[in-house]
Amino acid sequence: MIYVSTNNLKPGMILAKDIWGKSSCFPLIHIGTTLGVSTIKRLIDKGIQGVYIECEGCEDIEVNEIISMEEKIRITDEIGKIFKSLQAEKGNIFACVESVSKIADYFVDVVTKNHECLMNIIDIKNYNEYSYVHSMQVGILSTIIGNNLGYKNNRLKELATAGMLHDVGKLNIPIEILDKAGPLTDEEFAIMKKHPDYGIAKLSTCHGLSKDILDGIVTHHEKIDGTGYPRGLKEDEIHVFGKIIAVADVYDALTSDRSYRKSWTPHDTINYMMSCAGNHFDVDILSAFLLSAAAYPVDVLVLLSNGLKGVVINTVAGLPLNPIVKILTPGEHHGEIFDLANDIKYLTIKILDTISDPEEIECILAENKIYSLRKVN
Ligand SMILES: [Fe+2]
Repeated sequence: MIYVSTNNLKPGMILAKDIWGKSSCFPLIHIGTTLGVSTIKRLIDKGIQGVYIECEGCEDIEVNEIISMEEKIRITDEIGKIFKSLQAEKGNIFACVESVSKIADYFVDVVTKNHECLMNIIDIKNYNEYSYVHSMQVGILSTIIGNNLGYKNNRLKELATAGMLHDVGKLNIPIEILDKAGPLTDEEFAIMKKHPDYGIAKLSTCHGLSKDILDGIVTHHEKIDGTGYPRGLKEDEIHVFGKIIAVADVYDALTSDRSYRKSWTPHDTINYMMSCAGNHFDVDILSAFLLSAAAYPVDVLVLLSNGLKGVVINTVAGLPLNPIVKILTPGEHHGEIFDLANDIKYLTIKILDTISDPEEIECILAENKIYSLRKVN
């Protein structure tokens, strides 16, 4: 299968994975469905960014997800309920912490059982409730980074909890500021900067949350060079959980569509974050993140520096810019596997870009006989 953004879908393409609707118990569109004009319009109208499509040359390529889509939707719904309860005046904060604790246990379990869990998180971003999806993603990503740093059991669970609850203080920020399409005014930004403190004020009465969790939440917008907020802390003054959550938070935020900008690609985001090592991000924490980051997620089409085009079939821990690519360009290399990380033959070959031009994608898909799999009615 390959990943195709919704705007580049063509009638006749066949879905290689189920499409899940927001908060639904069953798929919106099933695997194996041949897409028609109306189905593609429906996907665009629902704000779905992209889907997985069958490709004759790529049957052996599978997306390895550590958490299934059903589970992600269930957890996102659960986080939504927790946040709504925390917002309500008489919400049961102890029940909320209990629910967060169960999800944190689950994250620790899946992350510690999947030693090479590279991030392949395109599809969950299809679902709209940004703040809940973002809280879940930051919880998972923080757990993965903590696992790479050697954290165990309760320490990892505390980190997962802090990651999920890092933005709970935004419940106190007016929606007009949170959802503003343009840049914030100085006054609005001053209000926004209070959300880490609002978060710990909301949670500090709860005995189920440790000081480390609260310190992680209140420091997640601090920067190593002291230019962050709310306190302008520097280097070791920032709690290590805050440093970890900062990396997870920025990665997930930049790779998500927002009201004021389109999402960045994973490779642009990783390149940008690497340029911020030592000023925004702690170098050791960013390195731990890069061990599991996939700049080019599995199933994305790419153009190589030797002119060949292919699809990413796997990623290599610690080398996010050098994945394993299956060549789709017709000719002598068609079907060949280029391991850009480990095979000395290909070490001089780089990825120039992901392929997003609709005509180019259509050409590659046609050359790989995607349209011949099933007749279009
Ligand atoms: Fe935040």
